[in-house]
Amino acid sequence: MDYHIEIITKNDKLRVLKFLRRFFFRDEPLNQSIQLIPEGEDSTCVELEDYCSYASFENNLSLMAVSANGGIIGVLLNGKMDPPLDEEEPEYIRLCKNAKFKKILKLLHHIDRNVNVDGRFRDLNVLEIRIISVDTNWRGKGVAKTLIEKTTEIAKEQGFHYIRADCTSLFSGKLCARLGFDAIYTLNYTDYVDENGQPIFSPASPHTTAISYVKKL
Ligand SMILES: CC(C)(COP(=O)(O)OP(=O)(O)OC[C@H]1O[C@@H](n2cnc3c(N)ncnc32)[C@H](O)[C@@H]1OP(=O)(O)O)[C@@H](O)C(=O)NCCC(=O)NCCS
Repeated sequence: MDYHIEIITKNDKLRVLKFLRRFFFRDEPLNQSIQLIPEGEDSTCVELEDYCSYASFENNLSLMAVSANGGIIGVLLNGKMDPPLDEEEPEYIRLCKNAKFKKILKLLHHIDRNVNVDGRFRDLNVLEIRIISVDTNWRGKGVAKTLIEKTTEIAKEQGFHYIRADCTSLFSGKLCARLGFDAIYTLNYTDYVDENGQPIFSPASPHTTAISYVKKL
């Protein structure tokens, strides 16, 4: 395959965000299930852009796959895991004005609390893969696999103890499992319900679970 991997720098921020607006903001299973970006609208989600930008472009941990013609074809936004917040609804969620994105932040926080149950990663350095996205024309060709393998190498070199990915898609999950990650928390979307017992997210088939994977380095 004719592409190579580069470390993302702050100079790449705009083109990486442009890529993610096109390929991640609409078709990541949770974003798609709640139509985070309404169909046919040429808009964005500022809150998701902020989430993507959080310490991802300056830490020399995020990677992009670039094709022979110089275009981005895949992105992994990575960062060092923050200590977990144990509150039900931390301030960054309370203050989120976008009701749809707030649902996603709540779900991710719910997963984070379960992953960090019993303080199992306390005092350990964990590299978190936060965003995984590949151009639709390049999917199924191993681009995400290459990006995760390269991230694993960097994490090892930099002395991280673990690498973690919360996989909301069956495809990223299958990939982590194949790369030797262990599933440490599984949430069935049908079990994550609102006050009326209705599932908050119903992603399209075959995405039925969010699974947190970790690999000891
Ligand atoms: C998830 C994603 C990054 C995978 O990227 P990719 O480069 O296609 O992944 P790979 O080629 O390395 O392969 C991943 C696995 O998923 C499978 N897969 C990928 N797309 C698939 C599809 N549309 N249908 C069926 N299987 C698919 C691959 O065959 C492979 O599994 P296998 O080795 O057992 O066959 C890509 O599908 C994507 O960008 N999806 C939208 C955003 C998203 O969901 N991100 C992940 C959120 S955690």
